[in-house]
Amino acid sequence: MKEVKIHDKIFVEHLSREVVQARVAGLGPEIAANYGGQPPLVLSVLNGAFIFTADLMRTLGMDAEVAFIRVSSYGGGMTSSGKVRQLLGLDIPVAGRKVLIVEDIVDTGHTVHWLRQELSAQGAAEVKVAALLFKKEAFQHDQEPEFTGFVIPNEFVVGYGLDYNQLGRGLDAIYKLKG
Ligand code: PRP
Repeated sequence: MKEVKIHDKIFVEHLSREVVQARVAGLGPEIAANYGGQPPLVLSVLNGAFIFTADLMRTLGMDAEVAFIRVSSYGGGMTSSGKVRQLLGLDIPVAGRKVLIVEDIVDTGHTVHWLRQELSAQGAAEVKVAALLFKKEAFQHDQEPEFTGFVIPNEFVVGYGLDYNQLGRGLDAIYKLKG
């Protein structure tokens, strides 16, 4: 079992690079089919979603516009704080547009819940969520992601964009905290 040390903690591989890549290769066409040839505005939630977004954009099979927003709910810790802070705003209008929020992980769901409300308030015609990882047991809202890569247990994970105190994002597999 592959292990990595990040700061003071040891993590073990949970989803290999091959497994992640195969799922992303399947998700792209699945999402594209849902839009019937009319690409949504892809809204990538920084920082964590940057790698998933880059790969998903290349498996979608259609040319979609991409925009970025930066919000934070974890702060520096290992649990979601529940308070969403917007660190970098959206600089394009979404009124009348179909928006696909791209997230590395949906945990409590506070972040995407807040984003769905925010985008709807700005007049988005439709808001859907594509999450690579979904911690279903930790989810505290009603509306689940429309597109999910993997449902994972309620354990702390890093890699493929996800960090532990800002490191580990460049790992090409998903690792979980060693128990
Ligand atoms: C993570 C992740 C999601 C959010 C999910 O971001 O990228 O945006 O937390 O948690 P929630 O469902 O409980 O709201 P984080 O705040 O760690 O910022 P980062 O993406 O910059 O690492």
